[in-house]
Amino acid sequence: MDIAFLLNGESVTLRDVDPTRTTLDWLRDTRGLTGTKEGCNEGDCGACTIMVADAHGAKAVNACILFLGQLNGKSLTTVEGLAQGDQLHPIQEAMVERHGSQCGFCTPGITMSLTAAHLNGDQNHDDVLAGNLCRCTGYAPIIRAADDATHEAVPKGFDPCAGTMPDTADEKDPTRPETLDELAHALMTSPHSTLIAGATDVGLWATKALRDLNPVIFLNGVKDLKDIHIRDDKIRIGAGVTLENLRGAIAPHYPHFAEMLRRFASIQVRNVATVGGNIANGSPIGDTPPALIALGATLHLRRGSETRAIPLEDFFIDYGKQDRRPGEFVEAISFDRQPDRLRVYKLSKRFDQDISAVLGAFNIAVNDGTVEDARIAFGGMAGIPKRASHVEAALIGKSWSEATIRAVLPMFEKDFTPMSDMRASASYRMETARNLLLRYWHEDQGLTASVLEVQP
Ligand SMILES: Cc1cc2nc3c(=O)[nH]c(=O)nc-3n(C[C@H](O)[C@H](O)[C@H](O)COP(=O)(O)OP(=O)(O)OC[C@H]3O[C@@H](n4cnc5c(N)ncnc54)[C@H](O)[C@@H]3O)c2cc1C
Ligand code: FES
Ligand code: FES
Repeated sequence: MDIAFLLNGESVTLRDVDPTRTTLDWLRDTRGLTGTKEGCNEGDCGACTIMVADAHGAKAVNACILFLGQLNGKSLTTVEGLAQGDQLHPIQEAMVERHGSQCGFCTPGITMSLTAAHLNGDQNHDDVLAGNLCRCTGYAPIIRAADDATHEAVPKGFDPCAGTMPDTADEKDPTRPETLDELAHALMTSPHSTLIAGATDVGLWATKALRDLNPVIFLNGVKDLKDIHIRDDKIRIGAGVTLENLRGAIAPHYPHFAEMLRRFASIQVRNVATVGGNIANGSPIGDTPPALIALGATLHLRRGSETRAIPLEDFFIDYGKQDRRPGEFVEAISFDRQPDRLRVYKLSKRFDQDISAVLGAFNIAVNDGTVEDARIAFGGMAGIPKRASHVEAALIGKSWSEATIRAVLPMFEKDFTPMSDMRASASYRMETARNLLLRYWHEDQGLTASVLEVQP
């Protein structure tokens, strides 16, 4: 099937290509556009950052884990497409003026990240650059360049969507469904297909594990999966909602959830990674499941025309085993609106763009000094994201006091037997999990500055 898109304003139609070939490989090896660099080839370093635009805006994305099949109908801008004739883009100009480059290997990726931010008016440059590693210049000159460029307008004529999108074949492509019904039908017809949403997990199966992913079904064209409904009584998040869109939508209601998402990977990853992918991968260290479990979330699954809804925690059966049948997909996640008591603490070796060693999510309702309800869930403490059921039971009905908290701490050993790995030892995990409950209590008492208060 055809894959049609714009590359630096030029119409491109690809025929008979492997849809799981990465955009980075294609840009460099087929198109000879070697300005986009390959560093880690796993979404970590940002050397391959390009800009992908559609009617919803322009976003920085890592080309190394972006499949050609995800590009249909999009507009790509690479570093070669920034300057207009001899006129550098203001970000390029500022990088020159501020000496933002030494060896230059990271420079195209950094320039692309900053260009997307400049276009979108995003001036949180530390966050914007969390996914771009520079090992020699140091970030100060780069941030100075980014700050300088904020005073410059987007150049007239710099429009990442400019150009004429090529026509695609009239024939419907079952690997690229656009509606839930088409997706349900495609997956029933080919139940062992690899579902590809943002490809920020699946991409690594191709680039690192060298797996053949075919047959595949791409989810990024299914509009119904991308809806977020925020009602007075319920919030429903489509499985295809990106983590960056979720961050923006959830921030006014559950700011601690949004703050954790700010530290989820990098903006390049969050721009494509979906909440459905973060759940369906079944990872014990996925960051959204504990937060959603603490909110009492329900998972909505669909197989053909059949739908079912289960408590999110029941989806995770065992390490690598989820309650999902062949032909079934995750449609959405929903939870009842409730007062904002949610606190989410992510512990990782590095503050930005790192996988959690432990992630604790706490949602404890206290009435008149007594614990009325408690939902506590952890990542990194078991083979699956898991509730601290014994701790919760020991808290409910007790007075909300430090003495109660200290008395229930031994219950953590009934709930969890964490393991040691390269991220943390078992004893570190156990001790920090207990301490996070204490931290939640202290923050609730106003005894320590909350994470949110220390952010600029
Ligand atoms: C550099 C980097 C940093 C990362 N940092 C973090 C982090 O801080 N925290 C964290 O939790 N994760 C992190 N991840 C992992 C990854 O980004 C997340 O798990 C992400 O949410 C996956 O979403 P996706 O849309 O990219 O999923 P994909 O890679 O497209 O798919 C993941 C899995 O889910 C399945 N799937 C996807 N959508 C559906 C659906 N609707 N129904 C059924 N199955 C589906 C796929 O078939 C596949 O098995 C990181 C990844 C990278 C590359
Ligand atoms: S090459 Fe490192 S993020 Fe793509
Ligand atoms: S300039 Fe050398 S890695 Fe950034």
